[in-house]
Amino acid sequence: MELCQVIERRKVADSTFRYTLASPFLARAVRPGNFINIRVSPSLMPLWRRPFSVHDADPSRGQVDILFQVVGEGTRILSCASVGAELDVFGPLGNSFPLPPPGSPAVLVAGGLGIAPFLFLSRALKANGSPTHLLYGARSRSRLVELDGFQALGVEIRLATEDGSAGVRGTVVDLLQETETDLPPEAWHYVCGPLAAVSAIGRELSRRQGKVWVSLETTMACGFGACMGCAVKARGDRGYHLVCKDGPVFELSEVELW
Ligand SMILES: Cc1cc2nc3c(=O)[nH]c(=O)nc-3n(C[C@H](O)[C@H](O)[C@H](O)COP(=O)(O)OP(=O)(O)OC[C@H]3O[C@@H](n4cnc5c(N)ncnc54)[C@H](O)[C@@H]3O)c2cc1C
Ligand code: FES
Repeated sequence: MELCQVIERRKVADSTFRYTLASPFLARAVRPGNFINIRVSPSLMPLWRRPFSVHDADPSRGQVDILFQVVGEGTRILSCASVGAELDVFGPLGNSFPLPPPGSPAVLVAGGLGIAPFLFLSRALKANGSPTHLLYGARSRSRLVELDGFQALGVEIRLATEDGSAGVRGTVVDLLQETETDLPPEAWHYVCGPLAAVSAIGRELSRRQGKVWVSLETTMACGFGACMGCAVKARGDRGYHLVCKDGPVFELSEVELW
C-alpha cells in the first residue's frame, strides 16, 4: 500500500480521465494486465477500493497511468482528484498477459474502456517484435480514446462505432467478422471490455485458431481472494475462478462466458 501523487490529470473524453501517478515502485513492478486497487475516499463510503488496469507505465520516470470512466460514486469521487492529490494505492495485483513467441503477431480486441490495459500491452508486444493489430469498438467517435498512443507504437488500428461516426458501423464483433480473412490466423488474441462484450467476442474467437486471452472486469470487493465476490464459472467441472487472484487474465478455454 502506498500513497501516490497525481502528477497529471487529463480528461480524454466525456466522463473519461487519464491520470498519471508517481510511483517508482509500481512503475518497476507492474506487468501488462495487472491492476491496482485505489481507495477513492478516506471516509467509509465507498468502503471498498476500486480496481483499475494499468494503462501504461514508465519505469525511467517512476510513473504509472490509469484510464477510467465515471460509472458510479467511486469513480465520480476519483474524477474529482486534482493534480497534487495523493491516492492510496494497493498493487500491483492479478496476473499478466502472456506474450506470443517473439516476432509472432497479436490482435487486441477492445470494447469501450476495455482499451485501458492495451497500451501497456502494446509496448510489451513491440519489444517482443510482434506485429500488433487493434480492433476497437465504441458507441461513437468521441468515445474512442488514446488512439495517438497506439499509433506511436506502430499498432495497426481498425475501428467500429455503433453510430457509424468512425470506422465500421456496428460493434467490435461485426468488425472482427469483417476482418477475419485479412488478419493473421495464427495470431494470439487479447480481449478486454464489459463482460457481455467479452463474452460475444470470445464466442466469435472460439471457432478460430490461435490462443485467446481475456481480461475480465467483474465487480470486486476485497481484491485479494477473501470475499469470493469476483467469482466466475470455470469451464467444465472445475468450480470457480476468482478474477482478483486467479486473473484478471484467463485463457478463453478456462472460463465459461456463455
Ligand atoms: C480487474 C479490473 C480492472 C478494471 N479496469 C478498469 C479500467 O482500467 N478503467 C475503468 O474505467 N474501469 C475499470 N474497471 C471497472 C471499475 O473498477 C469500475 O467501473 C469501478 O469499480 C466502479 O466503481 P463506482 O463506485 O464508480 O461504481 P459503482 O457504484 O460500484 O457501480 C456503478 C455501476 O457500475 C457497475 N459496475 C461496477 N463495477 C463494475 C465492473 N467491474 N464491471 C462492470 N460494471 C461494473 C455496477 O454494477 C453499477 O451498475 C476494472 C475492473 C476490474 C475488476
Ligand atoms: S474481490 Fe474478493 S475474492 Fe475477489
